[in-house]
Amino acid sequence: MQSLPWKTIAMAAALLLQLSFLMEIVESSPSDKITELPGQPHVSFNQYSGYVTVDEKKQRALFYYFVEAEIDPVSKPLVIWLNGGPGCSSLGVGAFSENGPFRPSGDVLVKNEYSWNKEANMLYLETPIGVGFSYSADSSSYMSVDDKITARDNLVFLARWFIKFPQYKHRELFITGESYAGHYIPQLAELMIKFNKKEELFNLKGIALGNPVLDFATDFNSRAEYFWSHGLISDSTYKVFTTACNYSRYVGEYYRGSVSPMCSRVMSQVSRETSRFVDKYDVTLDVCIPSVLSQSKIISPQQVTVSLDVCVEDETVNYLNRKDVQKALHARLIGLNKWTVCSNILDYDMLNVEIPTISVVGLIIKAGIPVLVYSGDQDSVIPLIGSRSLVHKLSKELGLNTTTPYRVWFEGKQVGGWTQVYGNILSFATVRGASHEAPFSQPERSLVLFKSFLQSRPLPEIF
Ligand SMILES: *[C@@H]1O[C@H](CO)[C@@H](O)[C@H](O)[C@H]1NC(C)=O
Ligand SMILES: *[C@@H]1O[C@H](CO)[C@@H](O)[C@H](O)[C@H]1NC(C)=O
Repeated sequence: MQSLPWKTIAMAAALLLQLSFLMEIVESSPSDKITELPGQPHVSFNQYSGYVTVDEKKQRALFYYFVEAEIDPVSKPLVIWLNGGPGCSSLGVGAFSENGPFRPSGDVLVKNEYSWNKEANMLYLETPIGVGFSYSADSSSYMSVDDKITARDNLVFLARWFIKFPQYKHRELFITGESYAGHYIPQLAELMIKFNKKEELFNLKGIALGNPVLDFATDFNSRAEYFWSHGLISDSTYKVFTTACNYSRYVGEYYRGSVSPMCSRVMSQVSRETSRFVDKYDVTLDVCIPSVLSQSKIISPQQVTVSLDVCVEDETVNYLNRKDVQKALHARLIGLNKWTVCSNILDYDMLNVEIPTISVVGLIIKAGIPVLVYSGDQDSVIPLIGSRSLVHKLSKELGLNTTTPYRVWFEGKQVGGWTQVYGNILSFATVRGASHEAPFSQPERSLVLFKSFLQSRPLPEIF
């Protein structure tokens, strides 16, 4: 599953060559500064957006949106945020619906009081190529994109982004994100650690993974128990969903283009009982959530066949498709006539979902970099049950003892969730009442979690 050592060394070497060569021809920093986004309230922090070319030959360029911290950006870390899919936009989902400074509302942007730029300089990256405003002039680049290509492009992106923003080059760096970013983030961190052995470029201080795909079988099969324990399926359906055909088997068959009659039968039984009028990303939410949040559709093929478009309003999609907004963002639509939340031109190698990344998380911890795995506890797509057991198992493998026993943490006077810490380096936390997109549905609690993570401090034990 993992590459052979000589292969990775060769790759790292090739990457170095590529980087040192390409760094010379990178365009001298054009002004990516955003004067003002249409309809935004007055703010005192700086915003930037634009492109970083990751491959001149095929003219592949990744789009970013960078928001400096509200107060004293010089003293605050740099945090990358990545959404999953694969193929969904960190700009539309992450920045404009989850933890960015603004949320679109009609013709204007309203301030998000729990924006993560209260604590950090936030860099939202639309990745891989073909997502959002990121593009390639050569459309063959959208074919067979995989985890490897994505990790490498993300690394090249950041190395070159530092050329535009040299003041951030040695800044404390954290990588955060959710869902399929459970692949992107550990894989990017691993490349950074390798790169740093040659040249100390990335001052990586931690990674945080929200409702992440870390081990396909464990994550996907915890869905059955989650459905069952939340009353979404019956005892008898639970039984066939855990014996006759489990979810990882179904997804594997689905992506190989041959769903067996047995799995097909089991899945229709499951779908019938769970109902398409329940949001699988938050089983307690009413179904009308912006389609912008349906980002994990792709890792959840059960939903792909059911078009659930009961929401008429889609403010982010409307906003990001305005010409004046695109102009203000320095964004271009290349080979597309519309910005979409999740790409429909990207052809991602979906079988990559089966690559376990929990072992990569282990390597990152061994390199001394803290990891937080957190779960919105109302999510049935990547339920807390799977994430919690994966973290626990990893702690055992690494010989990390519990340093904070399983306990509640507080936000205000209410329980914000539960947490457990191993060896003061590997943390698990739930966000109570949160969906798959925790910062969207529980912004206050998520901000408390984020702040503790950045400061390497225990979550509030009392109020
Ligand atoms: C899921 O099904 C596969 C194939 O039948 C099997 O190998 C695996 O052990 C099952 N996993 C669980 C958790 O039931
Ligand atoms: C972990 O706990 C075990 C059992 O109490 C103990 O023997 C071991 O030394 C501890 N390891 C560390 C790293 O503290």
